[in-house]
Amino acid sequence: MRITSIQLTDFRNYARAELRPCEGVTVLYGNNAQGKTALLEAVVLSCTGRSHRTPRDRELIRWEQEAGRVFVRAERRDGGHEVEMLLSRQGRKTVKVNGRALQRTGELMGHVSGVLFAPEDLRMVKDGPAERRRFIDMELSQIRPAYYYALQRYAHALMQRNSLLRDIPLNPYLRATLEDWDAQLARHGAEIMAMRAGFIQRISEAAHENHLEISGGLEDLRVRYVPSLEADGDPERALMSALSMARDSDIRRGMTTVGPHRDDLTLTLAGMDVRAYGSQGQQRTAALSLKLAELDIMRRELEEPPVLMLDDVMSELDPKRRRHLLGRLNGIQTIVTCTDLSDLAEAEIGAAWRIQAGTITPEGGDGA
Ligand SMILES: Nc1ncnc2c1ncn2[C@@H]1O[C@H](COP(=O)(O)OP(=O)(O)O)[C@@H](O)[C@H]1O
Ligand SMILES: [Mg+2]
Repeated sequence: MRITSIQLTDFRNYARAELRPCEGVTVLYGNNAQGKTALLEAVVLSCTGRSHRTPRDRELIRWEQEAGRVFVRAERRDGGHEVEMLLSRQGRKTVKVNGRALQRTGELMGHVSGVLFAPEDLRMVKDGPAERRRFIDMELSQIRPAYYYALQRYAHALMQRNSLLRDIPLNPYLRATLEDWDAQLARHGAEIMAMRAGFIQRISEAAHENHLEISGGLEDLRVRYVPSLEADGDPERALMSALSMARDSDIRRGMTTVGPHRDDLTLTLAGMDVRAYGSQGQQRTAALSLKLAELDIMRRELEEPPVLMLDDVMSELDPKRRRHLLGRLNGIQTIVTCTDLSDLAEAEIGAAWRIQAGTITPEGGDGA
């Protein structure tokens, strides 16, 4: 698929702007804090319904403005798709596809599809499980609306159960109502776990291939799902009984200590944990391999490539990894941001734009 227009009104530091990305590689170039990431963020928003930088839509509206708007037009195999997001400081955002308001954000999936690779993705390898869960959730939500809905229902039940856990010491009779929330958590949690297990298996295979290629056939990367509880039989029953066993300690701690919100995944090279033992180079290669795996899976799933967004990652990669990444861009519409054009010396650039204080001007011109 291909994005033909990104239009912003009062979005982050943009008052009004339009970018028409070219078919191949579009470069957004400029100093820090000028609005490069904000442009990609607008695309992420139209792909997933949420920003990758904040859960609060209000932060996306330009300061001192009441409302903001993002409009993205894409051409897919089956024709044109238009996604419009109307952000309001007062209430929830309105999401429209081809002019029609959606009832549920989950219906957004499949209109504009993208993969973002940003320096934060390196944290996925180095940091805690929350980063890795976020990676799985963002990606899986885009290809499986059912996953997105299960996540939403699970998060809702989790919030209810947690607040109940904190109320029980004061109102012990509330304890009887825990059962209902446990049942909901178990049902949606089991759905989430099943979809994660399948997806991580596919990610592992694709990441393994990519890593092998980048490392010149030397390194054997494996990704393994580490659920917060082992469920050999029926995961729903296993989760239900784990929740019921954890009740007393959960009440003492005021939070739910078991369930997919505690899941993780491990990355290993020749059986060794990349996080603990990998060199910085190996960690970077692993992150890149995971991202390219995401791209591969999405491409297969959609039967056409999604848009690839590379936010400031070129400077983080050494020439070998950079070449590998650039070699993969053929036929994939790509939007790349950088502060230094020389990081893209080996890339075949289709168009370059300079981003400065929320304005977009052709690079090479003086903006006049
Ligand atoms: N809601 C907002 N309204 C106006 N300006 C904002 C808002 N949110 C962020 N900014 C500013 O917008 C700029 C955009 O930053 P960013 O997109 O991260 O830039 P870059 O990726 O080019 O470094 C920053 O200067 C930031 O202070
Ligand atoms: Mg940035």
